[in-house]
Amino acid sequence: MSTPSAPLPFAAVGLRFGRNALLWLKSRYQTRAVELALVCDRDAELARKIGEEFGVPWTTDLDAVLAAPIPVVALFTPPAGRAALVSRCLRAGKDVMTTKPFETDSAATAAVLAEARQLGRIIASNSPQPGLAPDLRQFKDWQTAFGLGRPVALRADATGPYFEQADGSWYDDPKRCPAAPLFRIAIYLIHDAISLLGPVEQVFVTTSRIRTGRPTPDQGVLTLRHRDGALSAITASLCVKDGQSWRNALVINYENGTATRNLGGDPAPDGANLRLITAAPGGAPQIAATARLHPVWSGEYDWESFAAAIHERRPLDETFATTALEGVRVIEAMALSEQTGQPVSL
Ligand SMILES: NC(=O)c1ccc[n+]([C@@H]2O[C@H](COP(=O)([O-])OP(=O)(O)OC[C@H]3O[C@@H](n4cnc5c(N)ncnc54)[C@H](O)[C@@H]3O)[C@@H](O)[C@H]2O)c1
Repeated sequence: MSTPSAPLPFAAVGLRFGRNALLWLKSRYQTRAVELALVCDRDAELARKIGEEFGVPWTTDLDAVLAAPIPVVALFTPPAGRAALVSRCLRAGKDVMTTKPFETDSAATAAVLAEARQLGRIIASNSPQPGLAPDLRQFKDWQTAFGLGRPVALRADATGPYFEQADGSWYDDPKRCPAAPLFRIAIYLIHDAISLLGPVEQVFVTTSRIRTGRPTPDQGVLTLRHRDGALSAITASLCVKDGQSWRNALVINYENGTATRNLGGDPAPDGANLRLITAAPGGAPQIAATARLHPVWSGEYDWESFAAAIHERRPLDETFATTALEGVRVIEAMALSEQTGQPVSL
C-alpha cells in the first residue's frame, strides 16, 4: 500500500530489540510511512549510541518523549508493565505502535484498550496485528471458497538457535517471562490460533530445559482447547538450528481439508508458503490451492496500515483488541499451568 501523506514522525522507546525494529524500517519494510525523530532508553549509553547511529536526538526520560511534539511512540520495552507505559503515551495524545507479547496482565490490558477507545487513539503491534494478516485472511478465504467446514485442529511450531546465559533480565524471570519459549517466540502462533479457531477455554503447558544457561525453560508445548471443541498444539524450542528459524510453521485441519503455512522449507521449492489439500472426487488428496506471501505476514510490523489509520483517525481496531486481550488471558493461564503442572480453565 502506498502512503500519500507525509511521513509521521515517531519516537522509539526501548532500544535493544528496538534498534532492529528501526533497521527493519529501511531494509525489510522499505517504508516512508513513518520517520524516526527521537530515541529513548533508560540506559544513557545505549540511547546516545542509537541516537548517533540514526542521526536523531536521544533522551533517557519518557516524560521528555511525551512532552515532545511528536505524534507517535513506538514502544519496544519488555512486556510486563507495557499497558501502563502505553496508557501514559495515550494520555499524552500519542498513538502507539508496540511489539509482542502485549502484556502479562489481562486486567491492565483490558483497561488500556478501553482507554484507547475512550480517547480515540490507536494502538497497534506486530502480533496481533490490526485487521487480519494476509496469510490468515487467505486461510479464511479458502475456508469459504472451498467449503472446508469448520476448523477442528491446529498444530504449529516456532524454533530458533539460542545459546543464552542468565543475565538477571526479564528473560530469566518466570513471572515476567512465563513458559519462556512459548511466551518469547510462539506468541505469534497463539495469536494465529485465536484468530483462526476462536476463544480459548482451557490451557495446558509442558516445559523442559535442554541447554539454556537461564533459569527459565528453553522448550515448551502448549495445548489449547477452544470454546467450540477445536484443539491447538503449539511447540516452541530455542534449541534448533536448521536454517528455518522463526518460520512459524502451521497446519490447520478443517472438516473438509488441511491448510499449511511454511512447511517444506521457506519458501517451498515451488515458492509457495501457503497450501491447501482437499480430497479429490475419488477420495485421493489433491493440492486445491497454493499462495505465496513474502514475507509471510502474520507477526510483521505493518507501519503503512498503522500510519493510514492515524491519518484517517480510525477507531481502535477491534480485531486487534479482541485478539490481544484473549492472548494475554492465555498467557496468564500459561503462567499458572507452568507453576502448577495442571490444565487451567479460563
Ligand atoms: N521480532 C520481534 O518483533 C521481536 C524480537 C525480539 C524482541 N521483541 C520484543 O521487544 C521487546 C523488548 O525486548 P528486548 O529483548 O529488547 O528487552 P530488553 O529488556 O533487552 O531491552 C528493553 C530496553 O528497554 C529499555 N526500557 C525499559 N523500560 C523503559 C522506559 N520506561 N523508558 C525507557 N527505556 C526503557 C531498557 O533500558 C532496555 O534497554 C519485548 O516485548 C520483546 O518480546 C520483538
